[in-house]
Amino acid sequence: MYYDDIVDEIKARLDIVDIVSETVRLTRKGSRYWGLCPFHQEKTPSFCVTPEKGMFYCFGCHAGGDIFSFVMKRDGISFKEALELLASKAGVSPSLERFNTKQKDLKRFILQVNKKAAEFYHNNLKSPKGFLAREYLRKRGISDKTIDLFKLGYAPDEWEGLKNFLLAENIPFDYLQKSGLLRKSDKTGNYYDLFRNRIIFPVFQYNGDIIAFGARVLDDSMPKYINSPETEVFSKGRNLYGIFQAREAIRSANEAILVEGYTDCIKLHQSGVQNVVASLGTAFTQEQARLLCRYAEKVVVLYDGDEAGQRSTLKAIDVLTREKLQVYVASIPGRRDPDEYLDLVGKEDFLTFIKNNKISHIEFKINYYLKNKKSLDLEDKIKIINMLKSDISELESELLRDYYIKILAQKLVLEENIVFREIKRENTKKLVFNGNKKQIKRDNIRYDNSSLEDRLIASMLKNGYIFNRIKTELGFGIFKNQTYREICILYDGLEGGTEEKIKKLEQQLIEKGLMAEYARLMMQDIVLIDESGIEKIIKEVLSRKREAALQKLLQKLNSLKDKGDFNAVLRFLVYLDLFLNNRKEGGIK
Ligand code: GTP
Ligand code: MN
Repeated sequence: MYYDDIVDEIKARLDIVDIVSETVRLTRKGSRYWGLCPFHQEKTPSFCVTPEKGMFYCFGCHAGGDIFSFVMKRDGISFKEALELLASKAGVSPSLERFNTKQKDLKRFILQVNKKAAEFYHNNLKSPKGFLAREYLRKRGISDKTIDLFKLGYAPDEWEGLKNFLLAENIPFDYLQKSGLLRKSDKTGNYYDLFRNRIIFPVFQYNGDIIAFGARVLDDSMPKYINSPETEVFSKGRNLYGIFQAREAIRSANEAILVEGYTDCIKLHQSGVQNVVASLGTAFTQEQARLLCRYAEKVVVLYDGDEAGQRSTLKAIDVLTREKLQVYVASIPGRRDPDEYLDLVGKEDFLTFIKNNKISHIEFKINYYLKNKKSLDLEDKIKIINMLKSDISELESELLRDYYIKILAQKLVLEENIVFREIKRENTKKLVFNGNKKQIKRDNIRYDNSSLEDRLIASMLKNGYIFNRIKTELGFGIFKNQTYREICILYDGLEGGTEEKIKKLEQQLIEKGLMAEYARLMMQDIVLIDESGIEKIIKEVLSRKREAALQKLLQKLNSLKDKGDFNAVLRFLVYLDLFLNNRKEGGIK
């Protein structure tokens, strides 16, 4: 049991949605995440993850469990190996130190180099060398707390500051080079620091690993930003800046706010808008949209107010809606970026502005296409309808479809009927898709259809009193489900409070390979039975048991009568009388 603490720590630090997402494309639906099961072939998702419970379950092949069982099954490894693997991911492994000496895994090593580099830059910012950089950040309204949260730093104005620091930390040069933090001089062939005299923005991956850096000049010189090159651990367009700091907020709001710049992201976060991530200059990618799917169903695009920003918004909308995210747009007035506008109007007004000016992606598109048109001939109108057709027909709600058709007709000064007919053509094609979606939903209902045994054991595991009542009154034999019986026996043998016992139970279930059934149980929104309900069940089961026992006795009596053994019959009748008396009092155990 010496694993207990580590297991807890790992579960606290790692998120099952993240781990599963390494290999399964998950999409959020309410509080659950669905994807195609990696353990059997399927075309419609029946593989489900619930982060609150830290469990997964496949309603198709009945594989299920927690992060440990997932990794064990996925990689075909033992519990111990899974523990090692997840521990190092969570950064809690006692064997983490071993990475320094016998690490074959290049990725892990580069992450370590990045971590050390981030610390170097961060400490530099706080040292006398970082005075001007601190001044710069202060002028831009970035607080010390924010500097720490995003681990901002400063690369000193030196050629080999970072290089010498990392070499002094005994990091092999080979790894240093592969981290992308050094650049090779064409003339001398020597390596020198890539980032010099710049503010450093470490780019965190969802799990807190630092995978790259962005570096901004302190003045107006060019280029404004230099970013890490692609490395073993970083590829552009796969990550969103701020996701690590924002993900809990995104998840609880079920909505992400998407901005373009590092500073937009940081400043909004500081102002209390914590569900914000930045797409970082490059065009918003499908992979970035998928990353958001893991955390939310809604996205608000909040790009710069200039023409370039509006154009990027249009592209982002397409990418986001392809992932079936609900997309809204808030346009910053003037040609400002969110950060400037925030500074201009202050936090309160900024938030109010976003709230009141958030429009759906369809309205945004309509406005955008109409904005630059002075006059509209019929051809323009048809073009615009065509550009909005699929957006409108993909809306699930008929009410909304009608609503947008109406708006579109109004703005194009066309009869509603005409717009409606144009869009309906597209609509009939889309029906197939809608049909599929409905099917998933219907299946969900069936999945939540728990049996009485499910409800009983779930209630027992939730409530120690109920557990003991069932144990003493009925025994664990009342479960037809063999695994439930074993769960009861295991649970009964454990010490400690309910929560502690559940943790221990889960670990034993993994070791015994019984996790799937348990996960199935935990996945369902089971309606628990309360204490009076339990008493009713106990009464009913006992009375059925007594009835069965009575039947047996009567059978025995008949067989004795047939044999004609009068003494035996007499003895039996005395016994039966006792039994029946007890039965009236209800005192038989
Ligand atoms: P500030 O000027 O400090 O407010 O920067 P910003 O973060 O608002 O940047 P801006 O809106 O100009 O650009 C948005 C994002 O594009 C930045 O955060 C960078 O990721 C990226 N970007 C901007 N300029 C450059 C550049 O010169 N080179 C590279 N590689 N990326 C850039
Ligand atoms: Mn800016």
